[in-house]
Amino acid sequence: MLTNIKNLFFLFALSFLSACSILPSTHLENKSHKGLKDIISPDKVIGISVDYLELKNNKTYSNLVKNEFSSITPENAMKFETLHPTDTISDFRQADYLVSFAKNNNLTLRGHTPIWHRQLPLWLKSKQRTKDQTRAIFDKHVVELISRYKNSIFTWDVVNEAINSDGSFRTSYWLNSLGKDYIKDAFILAHYANPKAKLFYNDYDISKPGPKFDAVYKLAKNLLKIKIPIHGIGFQMHLRPEFMPKESEIREVFNKISELGLEIHITELDIAIPLPASTEDIRNQNLAYEMVSRICKSTMNCSTLNLWSLSDKTSWIPSHFKGLGQACVYDENLNKKSAYDFLSSGLIKE
Ligand code: G3I
Repeated sequence: MLTNIKNLFFLFALSFLSACSILPSTHLENKSHKGLKDIISPDKVIGISVDYLELKNNKTYSNLVKNEFSSITPENAMKFETLHPTDTISDFRQADYLVSFAKNNNLTLRGHTPIWHRQLPLWLKSKQRTKDQTRAIFDKHVVELISRYKNSIFTWDVVNEAINSDGSFRTSYWLNSLGKDYIKDAFILAHYANPKAKLFYNDYDISKPGPKFDAVYKLAKNLLKIKIPIHGIGFQMHLRPEFMPKESEIREVFNKISELGLEIHITELDIAIPLPASTEDIRNQNLAYEMVSRICKSTMNCSTLNLWSLSDKTSWIPSHFKGLGQACVYDENLNKKSAYDFLSSGLIKE
């Protein structure tokens, strides 16, 4: 324990110095650098979401993905709008590329995400259809995608973000067309398409007790009660140092999900800070990365920690939240940031 505190203090001091650009954050890097996947406990997985074009065209990016992580998640390549650009055209090229990249580099893949309210193409949402017609599109999409990769992908975010912050069901194209059973049906179809796959419900802002977490907990409990195949909950964890859940709150919700016998995946960790970032912002971001990674390491059912976007250059944050950014552990030039060192200090196996 004392060693941990000493390590943390050392990292904190270095981070403070590197944040003041006195020391490059890579100062901590020694020449025989091992990747995050090499230092993490063998029972945990450290993953990264990947941008198809960067992975395909940027050697530094793809080498970092291979050397640091043991799992990849397609950031957009397996979303409805990418796979079905028109009602008659299916395009799996990006998804196929990522699956072969994973296979060729001994990486596992998290399938993301068959059913979501966003990134649905206009042709789907703009046309009036009967419930049966929409049901046919829904069924075909889930079964076609998951069975296509039944020998390559064994973990899926089957349904993403179906609950509102007040705990109500989110109004969406799928809910409006098919009713609340679309969630249960998606899991049934996913299991039919690949009985070997672990099926997750994935959402954000559920990392502390509250109406949204309670609704996700209730959804999962009800699905389990009627024997619907659900195996875990994805905690996205798109966080902000100013609004961090307390460690005790994260542990509380993790424990409740564990009590259901479900796995916990941190699926989309990034920690956005206001720009231009102050030394204080960077220090708080570092400490947040350390806390989340340490909690995952010490939570038996937290089997995966996935970062969302490798670098500040490809992060979704700046284009979605004005004035926020620098959320990743690599900067826009793919240099390690002090956040990397704090993440790894929380993950390192004892
Ligand atoms: O593909 C078009 C391209 O043709 C066009 O030229 C370009 C400029 O408009 O936009 C491209 O689409 C963008 C798409 O990413 C693919 O790059 C969309 O504008 C952009 O909004 C979309 O952002 C994605 C976002 O989901 C959409 O909500 C992010 O990359 C992606 O990281 C993010 O990921 C989600 C997870 O899937 C679920 N959890 C939340 C997370 C953040 O929203």
